[in-house]
Amino acid sequence: MPQPIKKIGVLTGGGDAPGLNAVIRAVVKAGCNANLEVIGIEDSFDGLLEFNRSHVLTTKDVTGILRRGGTILGTVNTGDPFVRQITTSEGIEQKYADRVVEMFHRMGLGGLVVIGGDGTLGLAHRFSQLGIPIVGVPKTIDNDIAGTTNCFGFDTAVSFATDAIDRLHTTAEAHRRIIVVEVMGRYAGWIALYAGVGGGADVILLPELPYDIEAVAERIKSRDIWGAHFSIVVVAEGARPRDGRVSVIEAAALGKAERLGGAGHFVSAALAQLTGKETRTVVLGHLQRGGSPTSFDRVLATRFGATAVDVLLAGQHDCMVASRPPHIVTVPLAEVVGRTRTIPEDSDLVRTARAVGIGFGE
Ligand code: F6P
Repeated sequence: MPQPIKKIGVLTGGGDAPGLNAVIRAVVKAGCNANLEVIGIEDSFDGLLEFNRSHVLTTKDVTGILRRGGTILGTVNTGDPFVRQITTSEGIEQKYADRVVEMFHRMGLGGLVVIGGDGTLGLAHRFSQLGIPIVGVPKTIDNDIAGTTNCFGFDTAVSFATDAIDRLHTTAEAHRRIIVVEVMGRYAGWIALYAGVGGGADVILLPELPYDIEAVAERIKSRDIWGAHFSIVVVAEGARPRDGRVSVIEAAALGKAERLGGAGHFVSAALAQLTGKETRTVVLGHLQRGGSPTSFDRVLATRFGATAVDVLLAGQHDCMVASRPPHIVTVPLAEVVGRTRTIPEDSDLVRTARAVGIGFGE
């Protein structure tokens, strides 16, 4: 007979996303309501290496954090820790994973809510296999985690990018320029697609649809015919030309993904040459990850956090809470990890975008 759970931990891993604090708050509030002690673990799984990197979280500790960006627990994105050997505070050389499992038990934890993207959920799956009861919560502004229709953070990023595109429209029109807006989206172009449609872009370039730069230039030149002498081109950071590669600024190392960058500048320079027009590039970068979550993301994050506690208490683990509107369901982590939810070929929204004259560089 498994012992009833009395104490659970919560941690955040990987890049941040607006809504992390809203999930933490929901886990703490739902946990406390269920008479659990909730422990906040700092800096992802690293916080389980030593006792002094975690602390009890009460309802009072999470008051006011619903609307705050970032994460009160801190986060790290340091690649694959399973390859690491560490020296503990007791001076013992140990494998990272062994230490985490040992400390989980020494801390008297009965389960863990792990909030993170594909990398962190991959670690969650591996630690689950080592006997830690874990429920994952999907986080990424890119919205590309398999098994869930929505990740919190995405709506906030899209709102910010749409607002930026609105602002860029007026200056692009005033100067008759092409403005290229680079948004995040490594493998999936959800932010580019939603912000591009919502902001009324003229061209959207996605990782899923390698583009022909000549076709983009032709689309822009054709706008002159009916008197539109400016254009807005939204480029996902992972977009690439049909005959080219993704733009990388730092190679992958030790299980850490490569850093992308430069896609917007590349498109901008090519369009200046092909159209003879003046171009400017705006890279929205980490602004998309900062700030207060939208109400949609706060609600989703709250539902994820509260459900994760329920799921742990029900004795289910090695799974992730997921959004399948109107429900929050669970999906085995094995079905999530290493997969990416990209924009499908027959996407309704791509079809709609084409119908209203948005080009994809085809
Ligand atoms: O996964 C989300 C994401 O925002 C990607 O789109 C982007 O490539 C990456 O994070 C950048 O993360 P960081 O700068 O924190 O390494």
